[in-house]
Parts: sequence; structure tokens; C-alpha cells
Amino acid sequence: MSANYSVERVEQILKKYLPPEEGFQKTVLEAMNYSVLAGGKRIRPRLMGEAFCLFGGGGDVVEPFMAAMEMIHTYSLVHDDLPAMDNDTLRRGKPTTWSKYGEDMGILAGDCLLTYAFETAARAFARTEETARVGRALGILAEKAGIYGMAGGQVVDVEKTGQPITAEELDFIYRLKTGALLEASLMIGAVLAGADDAEVAVMEQIGTDVGLAFQIRDDILDVTSSEEELGKPIGSDERNAKTTYVTLYGLEAAQDEVVRRSGEAVRLLEELPGDTSFFKEFIEKLEKRKN
Ligand code: IPE
Ligand code: IPE
Ligand code: MG
Ligand code: MG
Ligand code: MG
Repeated sequence: MSANYSVERVEQILKKYLPPEEGFQKTVLEAMNYSVLAGGKRIRPRLMGEAFCLFGGGGDVVEPFMAAMEMIHTYSLVHDDLPAMDNDTLRRGKPTTWSKYGEDMGILAGDCLLTYAFETAARAFARTEETARVGRALGILAEKAGIYGMAGGQVVDVEKTGQPITAEELDFIYRLKTGALLEASLMIGAVLAGADDAEVAVMEQIGTDVGLAFQIRDDILDVTSSEEELGKPIGSDERNAKTTYVTLYGLEAAQDEVVRRSGEAVRLLEELPGDTSFFKEFIEKLEKRKN
């Protein structure tokens, strides 16, 4: 199955929903747009759009949510790179937001992207008569971005830095800091298209497995890749004394786990209706991704 939402199509949607750079708060608006438009694989909005199509969604109600998801993901990166967090100066092949606009604007650009994401997603109410679905999708977006999702995972990640950590704690961190936004992307696409609860639960589980595989692959690339290929610094985890799948299990066992988790996700696709071949191919590509 070919893709309905290419990177280029997602970029067009994003541009439509980003704020104009004007007014007294122009600097932070520039920093927000700089961060979002710097590049990036757009994996989360693409998965959301394809999930919407898989369950027969029509129209453009998913678009404000796709933009919102990329804004939230980008905010998570902007804050993750701050001096008080991972202290990184390169992201998506460009200077990180804080190193270009200053730490104050880095913090504020993240805050503004997070809030603007909800302002953007709320625009979906005007694009459909199925307003209950939009309400449910907003709830999922909030939960998976917040303390029981991405931000909660980052809290434990930061707190456990430099400390011994159990396998269970590491999985908890990965499921939240990285898995939660992937879960939300798949779930929201499904919910907006009218999928039932059992189908949404399968989408969530696929997101969990893809999320674990994705973060472990990220750990591997932090050790084995290059700055040019990744567009972000390598060796960031070692410099920050992070316990990762690579430090706990070694490179080979870490990649075995990427393959195992991806296989779980592909197996779950069989429980879904329709042509899921896009997702199968996408997950298999992520397994071997180089950036
Ligand atoms: C990076 O995410 C942060 C992690 C969750 C590992 P991506 O690898 O999706 O980053 P972009 O959006 O392509 O820059
Ligand atoms: C962070 O994990 C995931 C986020 C929620 C931002 P990393 O700190 O490993 O992400 P990168 O490697 O900086 O993209
Ligand atoms: Mg980090
Ligand atoms: Mg980081
Ligand atoms: Mg990393």
C-alpha cells in the first residue's frame, strides 16, 4: 500500500497551521517555527494520517491533530536539548533552539509550542460533525503528552541519570518518554475515523512496541552513527551518563530487541481490518533506520 501522507504532504499541513511571525512576541514565534521547520522525519503525524485512512476516515479533521502532534514532539525535543536536560547544540542538522535563540527563548518556545498544539487541535471541532471524537482525541493527546505520558517519562529519565537503574525502570522510561506520543498518534488517527475501543486498544499496543523499538534504535545510533547522518550529536548518552539499552545489554542484544518488538507490532497488525501493508513496511524500515 502506498503512503497517503508523505513527508512533503505533512510539511504542507504543518505550514498551514504554524503561527505568523508578527507582533511583540515575534522572537518566540520565530523560534517556534524554526524548531518545527528545521526538518525531522515527521513519523508521528504520518502514522496518525495513515491510521485515519486505515479506519476509513475522510475529510481533513485529522490535519489539525497531525500538526498538533508534531508541535508537541518538537517541543519535547526543544526542552530535551536544554542545558539543564541533555545540553545538546545540534538538532535536525541545525543549532538547537536554545543555542540559536538563547535559553530563555528555548524554554518559552517549548511552552508556546505545547500550548499552541492544543489551540491548533481544537480547530478540528469546526471541521466535523463528529465532535465527540474530537473531544476524545484531545483527551488522548493531553494524557500521552503529560505526566502519564512523554513528560512523565522525561522526569524519570532525568532523575535516574547517573544512577543504577533496573530493566523495569528503563522500560517504563521508554514507554512514556518515546512510546506515549507514538501510541497517541496511532490512537488519535483511529479515534477520529470512528474505530471502536478494541481497535483503538490494538493501535495503542502497536504504538508501545514501535516506541520501545524506536528508542532502543535511537540508543544504538547514539553510539554507532555520525553527527552528519543523524543531524544531532552522537555520544550524548555517554556524556550525560545515561543508562540505555546499549549500556545495559550491549549493542547486539539491543538490536535483537528492536527486531523482536517490531515483530510484535507487525503481528498485532493482523488484528486490524483492511490493508495494513503500509504499517508493516514502515515498521520494518524503522527497525533498520540510520537517522
Ligand atoms: C527523536 O525523535 C527523539 C526520540 C524519541 C528518540 P525522532 O527521531 O522522531 O526525531 P525527528 O522528529 O525525526 O527529528
Ligand atoms: C528523548 O530521548 C525523547 C524525548 C521525549 C525528547 P533522547 O534524549 O535520547 O532523544 P534524542 O536522542 O536527544 O533525540
Ligand atoms: Mg533526553
Ligand atoms: Mg536528548
Ligand atoms: Mg537519544
